[in-house]
Amino acid sequence: MSLVTTKEMFKKAYEGHYAIGAFNINNMEIIQGVVNAAKAKNSPVILQASTGAIKYAGPKYLKAMVDVAIATTGIDAALHLDHGPDLEAVKLAIETGFTSVMFDGSHFPYEENVIKTKEVVEYAHAHGVVVEAELGVLAGVEDEVKSEVHVYTDPEQAVDFVNRTGVDSLAIAIGTSHGAFKFSGEAKLRFDILEEIQTKLPGFPIVLHGASAVNPDAVETCNKYGGNISGAKGIPTEMLRKASSMAVCKINMDTDLRLAMTAAIRKVFGENPKEFDPRKYCGAAREAIQKVVEDKIENVLGSANTL
Ligand code: G3H
Ligand code: 13P
Ligand code: ZN
Repeated sequence: MSLVTTKEMFKKAYEGHYAIGAFNINNMEIIQGVVNAAKAKNSPVILQASTGAIKYAGPKYLKAMVDVAIATTGIDAALHLDHGPDLEAVKLAIETGFTSVMFDGSHFPYEENVIKTKEVVEYAHAHGVVVEAELGVLAGVEDEVKSEVHVYTDPEQAVDFVNRTGVDSLAIAIGTSHGAFKFSGEAKLRFDILEEIQTKLPGFPIVLHGASAVNPDAVETCNKYGGNISGAKGIPTEMLRKASSMAVCKINMDTDLRLAMTAAIRKVFGENPKEFDPRKYCGAAREAIQKVVEDKIENVLGSANTL
């Protein structure tokens, strides 16, 4: 089995009222944890790398590790560029062998976003690669870009954007945000906006970024073993499940993996201060990631047993 694009995955997910999990990968243990979970749950999966991840691990290392992971498990997986900032980043990902790219022009003025996205789509499609774009601004931090407020996606503009750019999927802003601190008060997502977009663009795959649930147990374990994370709050699972049953075909989660990994490593050190074998703490992290991803596939995405 080799890497695939998200085209067929999204079609099946849309029709089957579930979503595909897109998990951020940065190293071997994260890749293994994610694909082992997908294999155990008989689910397709998207492995995504940000420009930060590509800089950290090296594009060829990431691609080679993903190839081995896919060949060993035999699952359907796409390798996706997360938040590609420009055409250069997109070209590097495509040259490396990624099967899907995101161009994130959401911080540009609308017309500039349209022009830049269209250019990326033409290049990617000519190379057999699919494109995700973004419209609207998520509050929180994306790489080095920080926004204090949400700018919800305008459904009319979403239709115009999709028609003019030819993108394959669209990330929208309905109240999710990146990182571990998503809400200071009650969690709220604008399902009315999602519904309107779904009505105006029937059959078109929608993407949700910033969709980690921020498990209080993981935060508690981090803090119990020397961490200091306060005020963390994520998206309630039932909201994500509802989005997956609608037009949302891809749900991005990174923070939940980071928290699970950190909690597992802190616990090993907290309980075994004499431990210094990396396989002990990296192995615990890999198992923790697999557990989180299995839970997402089963209880959030609804993608178990769809391969
Ligand atoms: O959307 C951001 C993802 O969580 C990736 O984060 O740019 O720090 O790798 P990163
Ligand atoms: P979280 O920070 O909620 O995990 O979102 C990750 C994401 O959207 C990656 O693109
Ligand atoms: Zn994102």
